[in-house]
Amino acid sequence: MIKELVDKLQREKILSVDEFKKILETEDVKSIGYLHEKSRDTSHSIYGRDIYIRGLIEFTNYCKNNCLYCGIRHNNNNIERYRLTKEEILNCTDIGYSLGFRTFVLQGGEDPYFSTDKIVDIVSSIKSSHPDCAITLSIGEKSYESYKAFFDAGADRYLLRHETANKNHYSKIHPKSMSLKKRQQCLWDLKEIGYQVGCGFMVGSPYQTLDNIVEDLLFIKELNPHMIGIGPFIPHKDTPFKNHSPGTIDLTLKLLSIIRLMLPNVLLPSTTALATIDPCGRERGILVGANVVMPNLSPESVREKYTLYNNKACSKEESAEYKFNLEHSIKYIGYNLTVNRGDYKII
Ligand code: 5AD
Repeated sequence: MIKELVDKLQREKILSVDEFKKILETEDVKSIGYLHEKSRDTSHSIYGRDIYIRGLIEFTNYCKNNCLYCGIRHNNNNIERYRLTKEEILNCTDIGYSLGFRTFVLQGGEDPYFSTDKIVDIVSSIKSSHPDCAITLSIGEKSYESYKAFFDAGADRYLLRHETANKNHYSKIHPKSMSLKKRQQCLWDLKEIGYQVGCGFMVGSPYQTLDNIVEDLLFIKELNPHMIGIGPFIPHKDTPFKNHSPGTIDLTLKLLSIIRLMLPNVLLPSTTALATIDPCGRERGILVGANVVMPNLSPESVREKYTLYNNKACSKEESAEYKFNLEHSIKYIGYNLTVNRGDYKII
């Protein structure tokens, strides 16, 4: 029964609400194994055994927002805030470039200090030093004009998780000042401007129901993004959600596979959150259909301060050593880290 649904998903790239729910609910090990196998085959048919690598630079942990789940929320006074200077950011990209990275992800809280002009300046400086690199921004909700200015300065991709596609659920995990409508509008704006766009959500976030997850899948199908970031929710001790349970690895892996079958070409990272809840999380994500890893290139001195959640899998090694180890663990499961921009493939 579930196998037939998996076949149908592979064939038609969509299911009904009830059909999606049946797959999400099943605990039958053989059926889940079949889902993962089909997803892995799909990923191989498009991206082979190549895993794309992105250098993540977490350049500010200041944030004006108060998302109830997030450790860098504005009201958390129990955190040491930092900002990297332009020179420090460029130093990270130079180190990354010499290690073979050809995509840099600049991620940060919504920090008003980094005005549109400052981001434009940083993006164009990276592009002029390394014109063969792709730049991904992940700096939250901005105006259409700002998104356009970043794009014109050379930004290629933008990650903005929608967090949940259900209005009621969105309001339970965000402050009143934020809205799902605004978030979704940003994603449509980014697409219109011409970015490769990524949305996504946390698996097992507080108050999330299976129906909400199906709504996420249907929104993703409608948006048809180039990238999707999903990882388990992990509580942070200084947030209102500190006593909520984390999301599970099993549901996250199931969702990675469902998403791969629904959008076969999508760039799908095996996230740090997955590596945090399971010591083999990163590898397990790849084995069920993920094809991107995003190791941290931020200076070691600030890595521990970018704490969206507790016990973040956070390396204290130098970027070079970390990349070397990552390359090994990925080779060990039969894949290769590739050195190129790793663009979305249209087949
Ligand atoms: N657990 C897991 N993921 C989180 N994020 C923020 N806080 C947490 C948490 N406690 C995710 C959000 C955000 C991305 C940058 O990190 O989905 O969009």
